[in-house]
Amino acid sequence: MKEVKLESKLFVYENLEELPSDVSDLMEKAMLARTRAYAPYSNFQVGAALLLDNGEVVTGNNQENASYPSGLCAERTAIYYAGAQYPDAKIVCMTISATAINAPTSKPIPPCGACRQAMVEYEIKQDEPIEIYFMGEMGAVAKSDSVLNLLPYVFDKSVLF
Ligand code: THU
Repeated sequence: MKEVKLESKLFVYENLEELPSDVSDLMEKAMLARTRAYAPYSNFQVGAALLLDNGEVVTGNNQENASYPSGLCAERTAIYYAGAQYPDAKIVCMTISATAINAPTSKPIPPCGACRQAMVEYEIKQDEPIEIYFMGEMGAVAKSDSVLNLLPYVFDKSVLF
């Protein structure tokens, strides 16, 4: 028996002002998308913005449904839209902002496990890391250098063949 350690590393910025300006611009797009989320059941709004290597910015937000499991998270709404519209483009950076409508949070809200799995598919496909910055409604912003860093010991296509 041997022990295997899995490691992840995050960088935490104190606030938006500490971010490089291109990243804070992209975060503002995620924040705007967040305010347009359709989240009447959870009252928890999430917005995501993707910068592609062709210069396009794609945004998404959570879309809920009376049949709860039919809804979709912001990150997957955005990443699937990018995959559908720009199949050959690489995703350079993703920003995420999330908060409960009635309880604004100032702590970084990380993407859920299902979204990490969806995101890592595209990171592996493009063979380039996707930088991810995530925050609440205000305050600190966490950064991961890649999706894989948020999802170590990943289930990917290599196990299927
Ligand atoms: N949600 C996201 O949009 N992204 C996540 O990573 C986690 C959760 C959404 C799903 C649902 O509409 C609401 O937040 C509460 O879970």
